Amino acid sequence: MPLVNLSDMITHAHHHKYAVGAFGVANLNFLEAIMQAAENCRAPVVLNLIESHFSNYDFELLMPAVTAAAKRANVPVAINFDHGTSLASAERAIRAGCNGVMVDTSAMPFSDNLWQTRDIVEMAHACGITVEGELGYVPGIEGENAKIHPGELAYTSATEAKGFVERTGVDCLAVSIGTVHGRMKGIPKLDYVRLAKIKDATTIPLVIHGGTGLSDDQYRKLIANGIAKINYYTGLSDVASKRIRENVTSDRKGDQSVLLSGVRDAVKEEVERCLCLWGCGGRAAEVLTQCRPWQEVEHIMLYKVSAALSENEVTSILREANKLVEVIPGVMNIQNSQSLEVDGKFRFFIRVRLANESALDLFKKHPAHTRFTNKILLPIAIEHATLESKEILHLL
Ligand code: 13P
Repeated sequence: MPLVNLSDMITHAHHHKYAVGAFGVANLNFLEAIMQAAENCRAPVVLNLIESHFSNYDFELLMPAVTAAAKRANVPVAINFDHGTSLASAERAIRAGCNGVMVDTSAMPFSDNLWQTRDIVEMAHACGITVEGELGYVPGIEGENAKIHPGELAYTSATEAKGFVERTGVDCLAVSIGTVHGRMKGIPKLDYVRLAKIKDATTIPLVIHGGTGLSDDQYRKLIANGIAKINYYTGLSDVASKRIRENVTSDRKGDQSVLLSGVRDAVKEEVERCLCLWGCGGRAAEVLTQCRPWQEVEHIMLYKVSAALSENEVTSILREANKLVEVIPGVMNIQNSQSLEVDGKFRFFIRVRLANESALDLFKKHPAHTRFTNKILLPIAIEHATLESKEILHLL
């Protein structure tokens, strides 16, 4: 049940001066570890799906597990698409079940970053999805490979941040004040004065990328200066690989289950350490009362058509319906089925699953949908009906 609105979750942290953790999900082991840690600490949590990791796993195959983990949790959970590379990849992430998106255009010049981020906000807000923007540049790559994400650190300017937030309409802003993604030599110097100025110039929650490798005191100061979400991945990857190396040393011939044993617990302990440090432990119940639940909805269309219409004709109509998935943001999938009763009232059904009620509103007024209904469906329909429904959350 506790899949919740991401913006509401971060806003709660912002108002109550703690930070939620957004942990990179690299595989099923990480997913289970993060969820167990959040349950143990009674903490709200963000599951981060980082686009550069998609070469390591099948995103569409992992997402049903991520969504199921979130829905069966007792603590509030949100699912965020992190460091996306384009509008199309953000649409893909929403289709797969993410309820927050961050497309990283921070390496671009200010005005390009602003316009691109505005486009993301326009698309995502139309279907109720939270958007994180980034201003300034945090170099490095989570995990380690700096080559995929090169460049020099560029600090966020407080004056630019104010204009960027106002003109893009982002829900939260990632800032660059000295952290880097990935493994570091030594502890970075963070510019708290700059951070405090950004906090005063903006009213929305601020986000830190490159959460790995900071001292306890640095985390405290970041949170005191307005950070409400901390992205964290390399620290989890490092404890997982350390554990695997130890397993190899103690049993070189062990099978994969021996080599992976203890990885989940090591990741879980690291997540628990972060959740306690960042002040989100014990907050789950109060956060749940403050966040809108995330509820998928369905729009079902039922059609009675002439018996003279051939199977091929019906199939080609349903193919047209399926194309709407790619065209309208917030549509998660479309399923078609045919009545088992030969003379039943309705011959075929089109079932559209949508991210939430805002996505349904967008779907109903989207020109691709009205064109399909008016030009393709209605001319062949003898009778039709539509049903709209939403998940009953307490039964999940
Ligand atoms: P680290 O890998 O340095 O913790 O950074 C993660 C991150 O910022 C993901 O967006």
